[in-house]
Amino acid sequence: AVRGPHPSAAAALIPAQARHDRTGVPAPRPPLPHHTGVRPPHLPAGRMPRHVAVIMDGNGRWATRRGLPRSEGHRVGAQKALRDVVHGALEIGLPHLTVYAFSTENWKRDLQEIAFLLHTIREDLNGEAGAKEWASYGVRLRWAGDSEGLPTDVVEDLARGERATRHCTRLTLTTCVNYGGRAELTRAAARLARAARDGDIDADRIGTGEFTRHLSLPDLPDVDLLWRTGGEQRTSNFLPWHATYAELHFTDTHWPDVDRRDLWRAVTEYGRRQRRYGAVVSNAQPS
Ligand code: FPP
Repeated sequence: AVRGPHPSAAAALIPAQARHDRTGVPAPRPPLPHHTGVRPPHLPAGRMPRHVAVIMDGNGRWATRRGLPRSEGHRVGAQKALRDVVHGALEIGLPHLTVYAFSTENWKRDLQEIAFLLHTIREDLNGEAGAKEWASYGVRLRWAGDSEGLPTDVVEDLARGERATRHCTRLTLTTCVNYGGRAELTRAAARLARAARDGDIDADRIGTGEFTRHLSLPDLPDVDLLWRTGGEQRTSNFLPWHATYAELHFTDTHWPDVDRRDLWRAVTEYGRRQRRYGAVVSNAQPS
């Protein structure tokens, strides 16, 4: 019988994107490299954050300074900066990246800007093409926020993005759309109150674990590093429950000028910090 190459040798000849795992799902493509060819830093496993959350601030100022409409800042922020940061996150093996794309306060903006932001979120991320592309890199899309107030087609696209990428395990990219931290906590409290009223839980036994289970994404891990660009130093109603013990990182760069190297710097600095969670020892865990 004619023998072919050893199966593992044969597999090596197949481009990664064409390989399939046991479930028949193609293996993710490797992340796109940075245009300068710069390689990711080596970060010791114990010093890597598990969850980085980002307030992508400064799009409007970036555009205005260039005499451009604010929407151009959002476009570049989504298509260039966010894209590059996600590929940079894949390169360092970050499991969770959460971004603040549209807050409950953003409804106060000009109608045109709101429409553009929602359009960008749909087109570039959760729409059919966006979700397909992210899935090819192993990126699972999730959405945190309130469906109330959002146009139905936006909600449908956000749900479609989640469905189309639910098998992906390399990186979970959670987009906060129509998200407000206090609203999230209030909803969880209302759910708990209803469950207690209906006798499904014992109110005297409600602890942090039970509370977390009533949040809209109960499995979203605690934020290790919260990074805000654009020069402001506040957390603006972003993930108050999850970011209680987050290390804070503020940078002046406007979001459209950010790329993966900024993420790598943030993560490298995080690795040098000592987290104590109120204890004295450096390897303490949150309670
Ligand atoms: C803050 O800048 C940024 C936002 C309110 C929106 C962030 C959204 C994006 C980067 C696009 C999201 C797209 C996807 C695909 C997730 P700002 O407008 O408040 O800027 P300013 O502080 O300079 O006015």
